[in-house]
Amino acid sequence: MDVADRVAVVTGGASGIGRALCLAFADRGAAGVVVADVDGDGAAAVADEIRSRGRRAVAVAVDAAREADVQALAARAHEAFGRIDVFCSNAGIIVAGGVEVHDDAWSRIWEINVQSHVHVARAVLPAMVARGEGYLVITASAAGLLTQLGSAPYAVTKHAAVALAEWLAITYGERGIKVSCLCPQAVTTNLGATSLRELADIAVPGGSGGSPPRAGTVPSGDAGSVSRQASVDGVLTADEVAVSVIEGLLAERFLILPHPEVATYERRRAEDRDRWLAGMRRLQARLAAES
Ligand SMILES: NC(=O)c1ccc[n+]([C@@H]2O[C@H](COP(=O)([O-])OP(=O)(O)OC[C@H]3O[C@@H](n4cnc5c(N)ncnc54)[C@H](O)[C@@H]3O)[C@@H](O)[C@H]2O)c1
Repeated sequence: MDVADRVAVVTGGASGIGRALCLAFADRGAAGVVVADVDGDGAAAVADEIRSRGRRAVAVAVDAAREADVQALAARAHEAFGRIDVFCSNAGIIVAGGVEVHDDAWSRIWEINVQSHVHVARAVLPAMVARGEGYLVITASAAGLLTQLGSAPYAVTKHAAVALAEWLAITYGERGIKVSCLCPQAVTTNLGATSLRELADIAVPGGSGGSPPRAGTVPSGDAGSVSRQASVDGVLTADEVAVSVIEGLLAERFLILPHPEVATYERRRAEDRDRWLAGMRRLQARLAAES
């Protein structure tokens, strides 16, 4: 799908990858862009930027983890532009740590990184199926195809996001619904800071994206490996990721891999899971030794 003359909605649109998608869609001639974010002021600033480039945009303050907010977002998009052609369900957070991470933080990341996509599918699929066309783009991560050293909640929720995207592609593909799943490695964004803000009610003050551990659990240690693993193959800009998404949409390709190495890693993982696990243990040890 070419986004020219299409209506696009992007959650997490105030910052990072979402902001870059909003601007790229506008520059490519989208008929309308709905910038949605829990940071309402940030969303308004991006919508202003789009309008200053002569394109149409509205901003909506939304917590993507809340179903009522997502329903209201879809209604607002229909009200403003009459339809939704492309919905990028992109909002996400990261929590460092392993099984010791507090249940409240596990719940919050699950709500944002997984349930938000469920809410989006519920909100937009009826109208898309009725029209016989529509495009869902779910932002997962390379962590959803491989793993995330130093963050069990991120690895688990991003795997779930990939699974949901696959399920939607299989289930609705014959009814005209296209699905892509965006799986980058490291991208220069505000993910660390915005995640801490989203976890503010439960995060340890001054912590590194973690949360109070559950009593009686064994800490998994090295939270710093989160960023060190992700940046092994280089760090992309959000604008570079947006270019990959535009290309992926044009090709209507399910997996959008801004870091092409991820395809090789995924193939190796599928070919020999034990060898892949041993390799990941070696990588974890090497990154820990280098820190
Ligand atoms: N940065 C990376 O290295 C990287 C790599 C792979 C995948 N991702 C994924 O990309 C997506 C975008 O993240 P980013 O890196 O651009 O980070 P970012 O923090 O710059 O942008 C994320 C945006 O999502 C918003 N947001 C957070 N929780 C929200 C909620 N509940 N409802 C609505 N908006 C919410 C934030 O306010 C922020 O504007 C996330 O799903 C993230 O997991 C990021």
